[in-house]
Amino acid sequence: MFDLEKIRQDFPMLKNHPELVYFDNGATTFKPQVVIDKVEHYYTHATANVHRGDYALSVEVDRLYDETRAIVARFLNCDASEVAFLHNDTECLNQIVYGLSYQLKKGDIVLTSVAEHASNLLPWYRLKEQLGIEIKYLPVNAQGVVDLEAAKALMSKQVKVIALAHVTNVLGSVQPIQELCELAHQYGAYMVVDGAQSVPHRKVDVKALDLDFLTFSSHKMCGPNGVGVLYGKKELLENIPPLVLGGGMNARFQSDGSVLLKDVPTRFEAGTPNIEGVIGFGAACEYLMDIGMDQIHNYEKELRSYFAEQIKPLAHIQFYNPDNATGPITFNAKEVFAQDAAGYLASKNIAVRSGNHCAKILHELIGTDSTIRASLYFYNTKEEVDRCVEAIKEISIENAIGVFF
Ligand SMILES: Cc1ncc(COP(=O)(O)O)c(C=O)c1O
Repeated sequence: MFDLEKIRQDFPMLKNHPELVYFDNGATTFKPQVVIDKVEHYYTHATANVHRGDYALSVEVDRLYDETRAIVARFLNCDASEVAFLHNDTECLNQIVYGLSYQLKKGDIVLTSVAEHASNLLPWYRLKEQLGIEIKYLPVNAQGVVDLEAAKALMSKQVKVIALAHVTNVLGSVQPIQELCELAHQYGAYMVVDGAQSVPHRKVDVKALDLDFLTFSSHKMCGPNGVGVLYGKKELLENIPPLVLGGGMNARFQSDGSVLLKDVPTRFEAGTPNIEGVIGFGAACEYLMDIGMDQIHNYEKELRSYFAEQIKPLAHIQFYNPDNATGPITFNAKEVFAQDAAGYLASKNIAVRSGNHCAKILHELIGTDSTIRASLYFYNTKEEVDRCVEAIKEISIENAIGVFF
């Protein structure tokens, strides 16, 4: 059952900052007490390295760490052997690109879109430089959603990968991932999905969608920083080499340089991982599952629509994604720099993000480098939206600049 009042009690940041309207959840989210407790428990009651010791404390840490893998597997509907813990979404995407580089060659095509975050473009750009692969951008509509018919027209045997955000981070465009995944598989291509902005907000069932790879970050879904999840179908993970080599991920190595790796997913977890982060992340997933991902998704849709309907009539506001049902509210106040406008909102205790949001070629679609992004999460309220809307109504060149002089 979705009990907003109770949910808000779970977040110390909301209690400690009663005046703050936090609408920067696309960047990172607040943490509920259960997650904080789990991290603190590691430091106060169960500190040891993981998968390295034979004493009771170390075995207990192994149990807590491995338990998270089972929880994430339940969260995504996959096998625990298909879940590797890296350090963030960015590192997971780099791991996939590095791994697939061994299967790609000059002339192979990777399809992506101009709405992607840097983390899902720059690693592919490097392969373009190193191997001579081609990168093509799938046509999208004004709201950033991929046009399926155009995608079909671009498919050929040269296409080896479709790499897309499930939900984009500036416009909140929800891509037709299932259809694109089917299309990719018809041509023997892989579907790589950046789930940074979808997994925190909706149920993502990797088996039902038949995804090949999925990545996301703990910190954007109530979990600690420094934990990224790499999901891959087991047979695909077994066919990509790890990006980082070292302790913990090898079974044996010899002075002649031969190395035997551990099985997946451990071979992707070189060096000491973010143990307390992973353990805390297990608590975050359980917390979200207890509320219910469908309930979270439905509430956020309702809240976004409440926000959008109040922004649409404002003549001084350019609203870039009015037709997307989920994701952030992205806008500019006409003739006011995004950063100045965000500064004005900050003076009213409203936290939003301004700039290009790491999606630096999106301007090719929306015609501006800089926007204001108000990104919501399930602990936000209609009252907070009202406060934000009232402040947005007041944005003008005079009062935005007035904040700084
Ligand atoms: C769509 C998308 N991809 C990737 C990332 C990178 O996530 P992280 O910084 O946690 O690696 C973000 C972060 O904002 C994002 O929104």
